[in-house]
Amino acid sequence: MGAVRRSIAMAGFVVALVAGAAFAMNNAEVVQARRAQFGEMSTWLKAAAERWQDPSRYFEIAQAGSVIQRDATRLLQLFPDGTAPGNGVRTAALDSVWSDKAGFNRLVNQLSDQAAVLANVTSASSSDEVRQRLVDIIGTCKACHRDYRAQ
Ligand code: HEC
Repeated sequence: MGAVRRSIAMAGFVVALVAGAAFAMNNAEVVQARRAQFGEMSTWLKAAAERWQDPSRYFEIAQAGSVIQRDATRLLQLFPDGTAPGNGVRTAALDSVWSDKAGFNRLVNQLSDQAAVLANVTSASSSDEVRQRLVDIIGTCKACHRDYRAQ
C-alpha cells in the first residue's frame, strides 16, 4: 500500500502546484509532479482496460475517464521553461515539447477530450463502444510518446 500512499501524497502535491504554488517548486519538483500525473493516468487506464467487458464495472471506467481528464488538463502547466532535457533535470521529455508546444498541447487537449467522453460511459454503454473509447485514448498516449518522449 506504500505506492498508494505515495500516489495520494503526490496527488496533494500536484493540487498545491496547480492551485498556484508553482513558484515555490523547483524545476526538479515540477518534473517529479508531471511524472506522477502520467503514472496516475497509466494506473487508471490499465484498470479501465481490464474492465471493458464487464458492464457492472463501467462506473469505474467512467471514474478513470474523469481522473485522466483532470490529469491531462494539469499537464498544460507542468512543462514550463527550465524543465527540458538541457536544463539538468532528469526527464524523458524531448526538446520537441518546447519547440513544438502547439503540437504537444494539441495532443494534451485531445487526450482531455477523449477522457471526457470516457467519463460518460454508463452500464448501458455497449462493450464495443467502451473498447473503442479506450483504444482511442491509448492511441493518443502512443502518438505523444512517439513524438515528444524519449523511448
Ligand atoms: C501530450 C503528450 C503526452 C500524452 C498525451 C501522454 N503522454 Fe505519457 N509522457 C509524455 C512525456 C513527455 C513523458 C515524459 C515526462 C518526463 O519524464 O518529464 C511521459 C511519460 C509517461 C510515463 C512515465 C512516467 C514516469 O514515471 O516517468 C508514463 C507511464 C506515461 N507517460 C503514460 C501515459 C499514458 C498512460 C498516457 C495516456 C493516457 C500518456 N502517457 C499520454 C507525454 C505524453
